[in-house]
Amino acid sequence: MNKKIAVIGAGNVGASCAQYLAEANLGDIVMIDIIEGFPQGKALDLTQAGPVRGYNCMVTGSNNYKDIKGADLVIMTAGMPRKPGMSREDLLAMNADIVGAAAKNIKKYAPKSFVIVVSNPLDIMTYHMMKVTGFSTNRICGQAGILDSTRFRAFVAMELGVAMTEVHAMVMGGHGDTMVPLPRYTTVGGIPIKELISAKRIKEISERTRLGGGEIVKLLKKGSAYYAPAAASVDMARAILCDEKRVFPCSAYLTGQYGIKDIYIGVPIVLGGNGVEKVLELKLNASESKALKASAVNYRGVLKEIGY
Ligand code: APR
Repeated sequence: MNKKIAVIGAGNVGASCAQYLAEANLGDIVMIDIIEGFPQGKALDLTQAGPVRGYNCMVTGSNNYKDIKGADLVIMTAGMPRKPGMSREDLLAMNADIVGAAAKNIKKYAPKSFVIVVSNPLDIMTYHMMKVTGFSTNRICGQAGILDSTRFRAFVAMELGVAMTEVHAMVMGGHGDTMVPLPRYTTVGGIPIKELISAKRIKEISERTRLGGGEIVKLLKKGSAYYAPAAASVDMARAILCDEKRVFPCSAYLTGQYGIKDIYIGVPIVLGGNGVEKVLELKLNASESKALKASAVNYRGVLKEIGY
């Protein structure tokens, strides 16, 4: 029997997730949205692309959370996107209500599911999802680090004129202005980028990565990025559904690793059939560790704003 995947929110990120999930034949997909007809229309359109794109999974849409019943995996994308001039934190109050309502339904209808959160502000919404569902922390993680790293990878590849897939990068910390790109752990075909790119350019590329989402918001003028966020989410979905044990930076719950606890933040993890199977602890230097802790302190403050 096919796995069942629920995508909450059939907007830009949600519909792109459904498309990539279908094209990867990862399971049957149900999209949930509050706008009547919207997820149904997207689902029908995606179904009709199946014969051409070569997939056979079922794609359906619904305005009723009961249709996520028994889902193995949920990707939470519902929520407001940013507009120019907004930070991810500006979405806090609106999206906390949306994520809270979805979490109650996930708990009710898909009590055994794994949940990947994409709604922003990401690390805060992931924590909120964990608290409201009451699911164990290995079953809830947030998509951010892969997106931030893939932006870093793309910029490094563009800089050097090499294949994107040859570049591996690590970006830790919160999914926002306090994120921590780690050039020390970034390589091209196994070669540290420090040996290939000047320190000045690495700094500029790190900064562009940090502000990468905002650069797209400014260009689009309404809404925020969705192809890369959806691609990153589907990579995570596949790692869980196919028990791949991939090593990714994701927003994961910390219990003292890196000297941080009771918070979701971007760290390297092993992602497999049991969800977050392990948090990997890198030997950060003093300034990297300081930046990661500052990111955590910032999010602890934001969590208080929604009562945690
Ligand atoms: N339940 C289900 N769907 C909802 C709910 C809800 N309670 N509230 C809003 N939605 C739906 C909207 O109707 C809309 O179709 O969520 C969808 C969001 O889609 P977009 O506006 O296109 O936003 P998108 O670009 O997909 O971003 C969604 O992901 O990356 C983050 O910051 C981004 O928080 C934002 C989220």
